[in-house]
Amino acid sequence: MKDWREKIQNAQSLDEIEKIRIELFGKKGYFAKEFERLKSLPKDQKPAVAKELNSTKNTLFHALRQKKEELLTQEIQQKLQSEKIDVSLYSASGYKGALHPVQHTMDKIIEYFTALNYAVETGPLVEEDFYNFEALNLPKHHPARDMQDTFYFQDGTLLRTHTSPVQIRTMLSRKPPIRMISPGAVFRRDFDLTHTPMFHQVEGLVVDEAGKVSFANLKFILEDFLKYMFGDVKIRFRPSFFPFTEPSAEVDISCIFCKGKGCRVCSHTGWLEVLGCGMVDPNVFYAVGYKDVSGYAFGLGVERFAMLLHRIGDLRSLFEGDLRLLEQFR
Ligand code: PHE
Repeated sequence: MKDWREKIQNAQSLDEIEKIRIELFGKKGYFAKEFERLKSLPKDQKPAVAKELNSTKNTLFHALRQKKEELLTQEIQQKLQSEKIDVSLYSASGYKGALHPVQHTMDKIIEYFTALNYAVETGPLVEEDFYNFEALNLPKHHPARDMQDTFYFQDGTLLRTHTSPVQIRTMLSRKPPIRMISPGAVFRRDFDLTHTPMFHQVEGLVVDEAGKVSFANLKFILEDFLKYMFGDVKIRFRPSFFPFTEPSAEVDISCIFCKGKGCRVCSHTGWLEVLGCGMVDPNVFYAVGYKDVSGYAFGLGVERFAMLLHRIGDLRSLFEGDLRLLEQFR
């Protein structure tokens, strides 16, 4: 009995306690054997020995339980100590991501137009000649196709050079009125300070009954949009040419770097070109089977907007995935 008590007292772990429990109270344990032995004792000795045995059993049982509880508390305390979190410690890996400046700019543009009820439409990156060129009043061998150096596949499909094919697909699948923008990636064979083979555009298209959509509407929307994007800038429309619009214009804002005085970024003109636009050419409406409608369209390069908004000098740096650049936009 004394030996057992010591053994219990000296136990260091719950595992040890469990072992002792089995040794004492298990089916083949100490007490099982002792009670077995009791059967072979003379009748007159049995009650006294049994009483003694039961009392020992009780004592040891309680000692064991007490020790177990002690160890359990100890173990929890140890665990709490070792797993303690010091919330005031600096974390090594506290790395926070952020939207890429191109995505951020794209989101801002989309936000403006969706607030005016423009639907956001998307289309395939691999396009057919018909949607990318033909239906946009750019027949085969038209010299204006050179404006957009194209990646062709062997089967005659191509990587879309602008998101205008989405407007064609939308017009073919729906009746006017239409009020939409088409954001997305486009591809051209170009690579220098201000051109990458893949970049992003947002184009817009509004079509309604003839006479309901005017150049004045277009001018108002674009002026408001550019002020939303760039703040208090001057805006001018310059006559231009696009095969799919007539009349066409390019839109400049006063240089946001030199405020129009002339600097390196604006090539000392005081102006930055940011948009192409115009009234949809009747040939485009003819190609999609629309009659007695008028409409306007516009298109812009998202990277160009991002470069101006964030003063990024080299367009290519937007696509290198260099964290030193991206971290600045967190
Ligand atoms: N699709 C033209 C481009 O990619 C942009 C544009 C769209 C111009 C609509 C005018 C009207 O260059």
